[in-house]
Amino acid sequence: MFRDKARRVGLAVCLAMMVTTLCSCGASDRWTKSGSATEMDRLVRPFGTTPDGQAVRLYTLRNAQGMTAQIMTYGAIVVSLTAPDKNGTFDDIVLGYDHLAGYIEDSPYFGAIVGRYGNRIAKGRFTLDGTTYTLATNDGENHLHGGIKGFDKVVWDDEPVDRADAVGVKLTYLSKDGEEGYPGDLKVSVIYLLTNRNELRIEYEATTDKATPVNVTHHGYFNLTGGRRDILGHELMLNADRFTPVDAGLIPTGELRPVQGTPMDFRKRTAIGARIDDDDEQLRFGGGYDHNWVLNKKGNVMTLAAEVYEPTTGRLMTVRTTEPGIQFYAGNFLDGTITGKNGVVYEHRYGFCLETQHYPDSPNQPEFPSTILRPGRIYRTTTVYAFSAR
Ligand code: GLA
Repeated sequence: MFRDKARRVGLAVCLAMMVTTLCSCGASDRWTKSGSATEMDRLVRPFGTTPDGQAVRLYTLRNAQGMTAQIMTYGAIVVSLTAPDKNGTFDDIVLGYDHLAGYIEDSPYFGAIVGRYGNRIAKGRFTLDGTTYTLATNDGENHLHGGIKGFDKVVWDDEPVDRADAVGVKLTYLSKDGEEGYPGDLKVSVIYLLTNRNELRIEYEATTDKATPVNVTHHGYFNLTGGRRDILGHELMLNADRFTPVDAGLIPTGELRPVQGTPMDFRKRTAIGARIDDDDEQLRFGGGYDHNWVLNKKGNVMTLAAEVYEPTTGRLMTVRTTEPGIQFYAGNFLDGTITGKNGVVYEHRYGFCLETQHYPDSPNQPEFPSTILRPGRIYRTTTVYAFSAR
């Protein structure tokens, strides 16, 4: 079904493009895995234009299991992601909009890549090598997710990427010296791969010509029911003995606090809703869960960070990462004012985010693992969201 329709759409786009330019829908834009009965697909089509006239493209990736991911060049946003339930039924399991306009007008970072620094930097200020830098503030007095026009609001360059068992797209962006207050020209790339093991694999890379903080992450809102109800019944495991408690502005106090005996203890799989409204200062500050957990690991190796199981559909998502932390945000700011894809109203806690990252406010917290990238070094992190059902 999908393939036939996709082929028709692809053909139409291809013909349309031939009129204006040479067609680029060649072998590199859709290919068949040789020696296999199944095939991976990649289709590229226009997805509208930004108010300042930049054309946006939408990639549709399809793996050999029938899973699909749609990624657009605006904000490097994952627009849709389908995964099978225990009966083999595919549903779109991420929140977002049907059209580009929604993302541009009013989006709480749906599906986006956030940066240059994902999460908060206190008072939008930090000192590096003796110089104090002032960043754009967009969350009260703090800097959040890269500022007023972060990586989620720019159009990225794109090129197809092929791997033996995966189909993908590489998105690149040059963040100029001084952008949102950050030092240095930062060249950043994000590769999204949809693998034949039903994984969305994200590989991040960056280089700079001046020392700068970097902390790039993916801000997908998941709802493993396919948007049928809120996420409070989802069962979450976080591979973390500690978390970073915050103040009322959601800035870490610097402490790494044990989760033991608190509602932050997700070492055993627990329903997100089981304790979210407990009378607890940390939950009050976040309006629910909106905190960074300190992953149990040593060094930058790829380890299991989180698992989420949705009992009615049997969908299971596992998150592995090279990062030291993970922000678990329970969609506390969703309040029914946004109507998303297919007319679904995003009520309170209708999606959750698991943002792999370095800890918030690291540039001001000397005890936290460093987020400073220096010229001549390469920033490299990888996160894998894997999907199955049981
Ligand atoms: C992050 C932040 C939250 C909120 C959401 C988007 O997860 O930690 O406080 O800003 O993004 O609304």
